[in-house]
Amino acid sequence: MNGPEIAVRLRPFLPQDRDACAAIYAAARRQAFHWCRPDLFVPGDFDRDSAGEVITVAEEGGRVRGFVSIWMPDHFVHLLFVDPAHHGRGIGRRLLRLVEDTFGDWAWLKCQAQNETALAFYRACGWTAGGGGVNELGPWVAVSWSMSRSTASPDPAPGRKSP
Ligand SMILES: CC(C)(COP(=O)(O)OP(=O)(O)OC[C@H]1O[C@@H](n2cnc3c(N)ncnc32)[C@H](O)[C@@H]1OP(=O)(O)O)[C@@H](O)C(=O)NCCC(=O)NCCS
Repeated sequence: MNGPEIAVRLRPFLPQDRDACAAIYAAARRQAFHWCRPDLFVPGDFDRDSAGEVITVAEEGGRVRGFVSIWMPDHFVHLLFVDPAHHGRGIGRRLLRLVEDTFGDWAWLKCQAQNETALAFYRACGWTAGGGGVNELGPWVAVSWSMSRSTASPDPAPGRKSP
């Protein structure tokens, strides 16, 4: 990214971040999952979908700009969402780099096949698409990162958090 340096810092999620993360989670899905009814996505989903996960927030000037929520046992990036008003500022890339640093060897996630913006983002960050399936929102693509095998595909066998 060639934009100006941004004063965003990454830090562990705190209880007081909940409402901001929940609002971002709803707003970003309404925009990204454009083929779905917007009322499918509500802030209350955040607690359910992030339960038991390790969450890191990107904060700027005391405001949450985005977050990543990781299901550690499967090296699985469950949720990666940036406030739509702050897309394109390098925040998503920083959160994804944190995932790489956290695991050091490999990690993976699911991306809806129709979410072309996110797929372009993952490609730009050096992650690789391969394999997939279908869930309640439509077809999804497995997207993975591997330190040793840049073209590796994950085993999409479902873990507890990755149905
Ligand atoms: C996908 C998402 C996380 C990206 O975060 P972001 O902060 O906007 O992305 P960044 O600014 O860090 O971009 C990093 C790279 O991805 C590229 N990229 C980002 N959005 C892109 C787009 N729409 N098309 C093409 N490339 C894109 C950028 O060009 C950048 O590459 P560069 O550094 O070579 O210029 C964010 O747009 C988002 O929250 N989307 C909605 C939720 C979502 O779809 N989450 C993923 C679910 S699987």
